Parts: sequence; structure tokens; C-alpha cells
Amino acid sequence: MNASLPKQVKIVEVGPRDGLQNEKESIPADVKIELVNRLTAAGFVNIEAASFVSPKWVPQMATSTEVMAGITRKPGVIYSVLTPNMKGFEAALAAGADEVVIFSSASEAFAQKNINCSIAESIERFREVAEAAKQNKIRLRGSISCSFGCPYQGEVAVDSVSDVVQRLRDLGCDEIDIADTIGVGTARQVQNVMQRVAQDFPVAALSGHFHDTYGQALANIYASLEVGISIFHSSVAGLGGCPYAKGAAGNVSTEDVLFLMQGLGIQTGIDLNAVVDAGQFISAHLGRKAVSRAGNALAAKRLA
Ligand code: HMG
Ligand code: MG
Repeated sequence: MNASLPKQVKIVEVGPRDGLQNEKESIPADVKIELVNRLTAAGFVNIEAASFVSPKWVPQMATSTEVMAGITRKPGVIYSVLTPNMKGFEAALAAGADEVVIFSSASEAFAQKNINCSIAESIERFREVAEAAKQNKIRLRGSISCSFGCPYQGEVAVDSVSDVVQRLRDLGCDEIDIADTIGVGTARQVQNVMQRVAQDFPVAALSGHFHDTYGQALANIYASLEVGISIFHSSVAGLGGCPYAKGAAGNVSTEDVLFLMQGLGIQTGIDLNAVVDAGQFISAHLGRKAVSRAGNALAAKRLA
């Protein structure tokens, strides 16, 4: 093992939000609640459970209040929700969210498509949300889409990523996600971007959020580990996609990430078998196979 890799990482399970938001058929709240409860039982310390966005923009997340009210919370677990504006924040506060996520983009074109405003306007809109989060002692996370490429404008300059990191830092974010929304990043590029933004924000509070469209997510996670990143986002069963990034695949699957970490001897505190079960549960509900090589292999091995 490479001694310079972190000994422990935090895996943020984003399946219930990023994973399910793109599903066309409405998923009953009780299924989402059972998924979150299974993930809680599996040992995650941070689960992105819901999203208080406009239901006109993302209809699947319209049940978020019900989901947040129905889950069985484990003390110490952070249940996060997306909040694009004060309306979302007020709903998040009422729902008892532990962390709110403000989300912008390193690409102007994507910001317009996803949140209907420019990057600068989004930061102004988030200022109020950030202040309200601080007043209410709720953790604040910032997420930066298209940090490695954009479906509308193509290349994204590392300066743009760094600029948005600094703006989110100045709003008081506790953690910042560097997101590969469309999964086009490759290992060396990921290291370059991560090393650059580590000059703007503490590396221990930066996270890698990789979608797996081009099959590079695990390589990108390994590349990130090599430059000191120790927080990663993933979706059980590889669920996901973004309604405003056509053709983007789901997040890297949690089962695959856990299998990688297990092999590297990196602690996650998460029970891989329980995650495999959760992945099979939600995939059965969706009527398709999990998009997880490790998850499906481990499930098949049990039947052998
Ligand atoms: P807008 O249309 O410019 O806003 O949307 P508006 O203020 O004119 O509001 C339009 C309607 O939405 C109004 O209702 C508002 O009340 C309502 P009407 O009066 O027409 O009946 N509304 C809301 N309802 C519930 N909750 C709210 C809310 N806000 C307004 N919070 C807006 C602007 C930001 C609201 C919209 O663009 C939006 O909701 N966008 C969210 C898109 C989204 O959720 N995308 C996916 C998540 S981001 C992602 O997946 C990327 C990530 O995973 C990282 C990565 O991979 O890149 C995080
Ligand atoms: Mg995403």
C-alpha cells in the first residue's frame, strides 16, 4: 500500500438525492425512506437525503418533506439536503436538515441551465442562505458542478473552479464538493484541479463527487486520494444522473468505492454487505440491475 494515502475517508452517500432525482417514474416516499434507513444502518455518517428545489424543475424531489419526516435518524449522522434559495432553506430548516447544500457551477452555461441564473447571481442568492444556516447552526456545504467539463460549453478552466471555491469559502462553507457532473474528468486532470483548489480551501474539507459516464470515476478517486482528498460522494447501486446534464451517468457506485477502499486498507466505517443489500433493494424497486460491478458480483456470490 502507498503509505501516503489517507488512512480513513468519509463517504457521503448521495443516492437518495443525486441518485433518485433523475428517475422518471415517481418513487413513493416510503421506498425512499426505507432506502435512507438501510443506508443509516449500514454506517454512513453523512447521507444526502433530499432536495428542496422547485418541483417544477425536479419533480422526483417533491416528496422531500415527507422523506425527511419519515426517516429514522441516528445520532451523529448528518442528513443533508440541497437548497438553491431561501424557499429551499426554510423547507430544510422545518424538516430538521443537519446540513444544507448550496450548488453552483464552474461553467456559466451550466449554471443557467440548472439554476436559471449566472454564477455571480447564484452566489448572491446563496449569501442569504449561508447567513441563515450560520444563524441556525446548520452545516453549510457548497457544490461546484462541471469542475472538469461542461455539457454545454465543453472545457472548463481550472481558474473558474478556483474562483467558485473562493466565493463559496467566503460564504462560510464547511465543505466544498468538486463535482464531475458529466463524468469526463481523467486522473491527471483531477489531480491538477484538486491540487489547485487545495490552495484555496483546506484539503481535508474538499470532496470529490464523480459521475461515472466514461468509467473514470474509480481512477479519479484513486488519483484524488494520492493528492490528499479524503471525502468522496457515491450512490448506492450507481444510481443517478442530472436532469440538466443529458447523457450523464450516475454517480460512482458506493459498493465499488467501498470495495476499492477495503482493498487499500482505508477505513470507511461502512458495512459493504449492508450497502449491497440496500443496492439490491432499490434496484429491485426500480426494476433493473444495479449499476455496480462490485455490488452485483457480491450479490451473485451469495447465491453461488
Ligand atoms: P426559477 O424558475 O428561476 O425560480 O428557478 P423562481 O423563483 O421564478 O420560482 C419558480 C417556481 O418555483 C415558483 O413557483 C417558486 O415558488 C418555486 P410558482 O410561483 O411558479 O408556483 N420554487 C420553489 N419551490 C420549492 N422549493 C424551492 C423553490 N424555489 C422556487 N426551493 C430554481 C430557480 C433555483 C428554483 C430552479 O432552477 C431549481 O429548483 N433548480 C434546481 C435544479 C436541480 O435541482 N438540479 C439538480 C441538482 S444539482 C446536481 O445534481 C449537481 C450535483 O449533484 C453536483 C454535480 O454532480 O454536478 C449537486
Ligand atoms: Mg451529481
